[in-house]
Amino acid sequence: MNDARVTAVRSVELGVRNVESASGFYSDTWNLDPVAEVDGARYFRGTGPEHHILALHRREKPALIRVNLAAPDAESVDVLRARLSAFALPELGMPGELSTPGGGYGFAFADEEGRRFAVSSDVAAHADAADSRDRPRKISHCVLNAPDMERSVALFTEGLGFTVSDRTGHLCFLRCNSDHHSIALGTGDAPTLHHIAFEMADLDSVMRGAGRMRDAGYPIEWGVGRHGPGANVFSYFLGPDDYIIEYTAEVEQVDDSYPKRSAEYWATLNPPGWTDRWGIAGPPSERMKAAQSRIAFA
Ligand SMILES: [Fe+2]
Repeated sequence: MNDARVTAVRSVELGVRNVESASGFYSDTWNLDPVAEVDGARYFRGTGPEHHILALHRREKPALIRVNLAAPDAESVDVLRARLSAFALPELGMPGELSTPGGGYGFAFADEEGRRFAVSSDVAAHADAADSRDRPRKISHCVLNAPDMERSVALFTEGLGFTVSDRTGHLCFLRCNSDHHSIALGTGDAPTLHHIAFEMADLDSVMRGAGRMRDAGYPIEWGVGRHGPGANVFSYFLGPDDYIIEYTAEVEQVDDSYPKRSAEYWATLNPPGWTDRWGIAGPPSERMKAAQSRIAFA
């Protein structure tokens, strides 16, 4: 079982200053479904089978608490834990039964730059997993800023079994299933959160979500557009506590035959000045630029 690897990003856990109001936003406007409340923390599911894809915890200031990763079974969890012991991680827990909503078996760790993750298997899944055109399915990807890009890439590839799909001048896209990327690492001064993307059923769902957000007072901060690497359509917003959140869809489905392309390829794919494949997205807003390195791990 030496080829054990992570197979998905299950969920993200965010620290918010006001759990009640943030929960209202994520259920009524972002359109997730509340699924559990434990010790003041709220858990939300998408339409997919994952037990929950978002957890909100009360914190004095916004902070990314943890990114939860999936492994296919308990044996894989144990193999991954053993493999990570070769890295100089400041924290590496022992695998055990989980008491978080959905249960399962897993362990938590902090990486060399202080980001917190957990790997788990056997988490309870929902049987009702039909798409809804106005609700997110799952976490599509997280983008994390990485001061030491190569050290972080090595942890994800050699430690957790991810594959590099593409690199641009400042981003490395990492896959762990057929999605072109589930994690991306961006060059940055600190190990902060760039953004979290939620997968919608299709382009139409992204557009309808953008309309719903605009009606609720959340303007599009970047988009709508279609990215280069991954070819996913995107629309970015600032949610409660200025977390950058993205509705996305149609991410390219790839396998081992995918031809990783050069940074030069991506830099010259579009005409000069375009920030997406359609040439309509323009640059991110100043508000979004200010928020894309503000959230640290707790
Ligand atoms: Fe994204």
